[in-house]
Amino acid sequence: MKITYYGHSSIGIETMGRHLLFDPFISMNDLAAAIAVDQIPADYLLLSHGHGDHVADAAAIARRTGAPIISNYEVVTWYEKQELKGHPMNHGGKWAFDFGKVKYVNAVHSSMLPDGSYGGNPGGFVVWNEECSFYFAGDTALTMDMQLIPMTCPSLDFAVLPIGGNFTMDYADALIASDFIRCNTIIGCHYDTFGYIKIDHDVVKKAFSDRGKSLILLPVGGSMEL
Ligand code: NI
Ligand code: MN
Repeated sequence: MKITYYGHSSIGIETMGRHLLFDPFISMNDLAAAIAVDQIPADYLLLSHGHGDHVADAAAIARRTGAPIISNYEVVTWYEKQELKGHPMNHGGKWAFDFGKVKYVNAVHSSMLPDGSYGGNPGGFVVWNEECSFYFAGDTALTMDMQLIPMTCPSLDFAVLPIGGNFTMDYADALIASDFIRCNTIIGCHYDTFGYIKIDHDVVKKAFSDRGKSLILLPVGGSMEL
């Protein structure tokens, strides 16, 4: 299983021979200027909510690759009106795709599509198959609902959590989130992209290592195998 970081909350995960692409926001991200958006592979697009910093490149990538969009009902319906295909879900719902099972779980945030359309309620994804199990939190505050994940899903190999603060939880709350989800391998996202969410990498990494946890901050364009 291979993880590629495209900046902000844009993550590609290759598992079971499929490329899953989460929250593509690349062409409008100055920190991701070196990434060629038109070459990113995608068999499925998973969108946590409708905000532009999570969906900016979704339509173009879906059109180029034919990848269906997995998101909440409102976000998927919005893309279907643009003649793109999708799989609508809602909170607490689970579906078996050819790459594994997906559960759409709660996030405490907001959701509005780029043209101002209602974006439904934001969510996160838990994905599991024979190869791995992980949680992509999307944009969210720390919430007690995270405790439901280890009660309802297989134990997690890793989780992608926002750590930048201001619009989402910060690293201190993400540390508590990692307790709630019972996962000690965290990939940080939603940091450094704009002024409100700049972080001190050394401080944040130390806070995790002091608690015996691993916080991975991949460089934009960087990959790792897990
Ligand atoms: Ni957001
Ligand atoms: Mn965001």
